[in-house]
Amino acid sequence: MKASIVLLPGDGVGPEVVTETRKVLDAVASKFGHQLSYAAHLIGGIAIDETGDPLPAETLAACKEADAILLGAVGGPKWDNPNAKTRPEKGLLAIRQGLGLYANLRPVKSYPELIDSSPLKRERVEGVNLLVLRELTGGLYFGKPQFRERTAEGKRRAVDTMEYSDVEIQRIVKLGFVLARGRSKKLTSVDKANVLDSSRLWREIAVEISKEFPDVSLEHQLVDSCAMRLVTAPGSFDVMVTENMFGDILSDEAAVLTGSLGMLPSASLGEGKLGLYEPIHGSAPDIAGKGIANPLGTILSGAMLLRHSLGLEKEAAAIESAVERALGKGARTKDLGGERPLSTSGMGDAVIAELG
Ligand code: IPM
Ligand code: MG
Repeated sequence: MKASIVLLPGDGVGPEVVTETRKVLDAVASKFGHQLSYAAHLIGGIAIDETGDPLPAETLAACKEADAILLGAVGGPKWDNPNAKTRPEKGLLAIRQGLGLYANLRPVKSYPELIDSSPLKRERVEGVNLLVLRELTGGLYFGKPQFRERTAEGKRRAVDTMEYSDVEIQRIVKLGFVLARGRSKKLTSVDKANVLDSSRLWREIAVEISKEFPDVSLEHQLVDSCAMRLVTAPGSFDVMVTENMFGDILSDEAAVLTGSLGMLPSASLGEGKLGLYEPIHGSAPDIAGKGIANPLGTILSGAMLLRHSLGLEKEAAAIESAVERALGKGARTKDLGGERPLSTSGMGDAVIAELG
């Protein structure tokens, strides 16, 4: 098949990890006889520097024409000035909204070889294989009104709004059921229904949708106790579906369980096949440009890209097993505790070597 991929390397370690992933995608494409073409565009801090806008219109337009998008990371101290007119992160929020990518999949899987770098005891982390499904274009991040003001008394005041419509909840919860059906048929819906109206609506809709999925068991969990259960019994989760802000927090918590943030991929999907794929580790400015970043989170995001946007399941699985074999043979970047750690490109090469 032929497919066109937009690369958004972005800031920090983004360009380094995207380069390695492109290498791996090319190796898979040539092995399986596909033709992938790439075009790089600006997003984030570098886009602010070059155009004044963290998501230039031409980047968004190119993304709309593509089959899939691979993103590195956005942000860094250079753009952290609280008085700045705009921020790199705005580019990320704008692309999610601009492409209608309402579903964020963050799979968290523990690799036997890396268990000792987990902050939890081995027996708690062994076998963890869960999926955080985060709503990505609603809730506190996008609810209106959202503003800051000076009141008549001269006090500073800021407002954010947690807002959900039934349609927004229905589509993400439904996807939760569909994904759970393809895994171990257990869905945990996470909310704060003891306090928030938006959560009570969320729970009501989850119950309604569950009638269409009699083969999947649904449980409700309050977000605070969910945070606790994630460290006490992470193995008890399979698919968890939740609103934007809760998902942001819980997915970082879940991500660190397995030892390194550097390993984790993500996919952001909308109604069609177009998706945005990125590692969840962020721009890591402290190690940017040193060639030591772990590219595996991005490489595994590349596997998700092949699976969800291009429908290439075999090819996706080939990357995932190559990553496991490389780890099995001792390939480690610095974050994975390697004694003689591989460079970013060394890890890319190790994965390619295992593709066979
Ligand atoms: C994430 C990040 C973003 C978010 C930031 C960078 C805007 O934390 O993708 O989880 O909050 O969604
Ligand atoms: Mg986050």
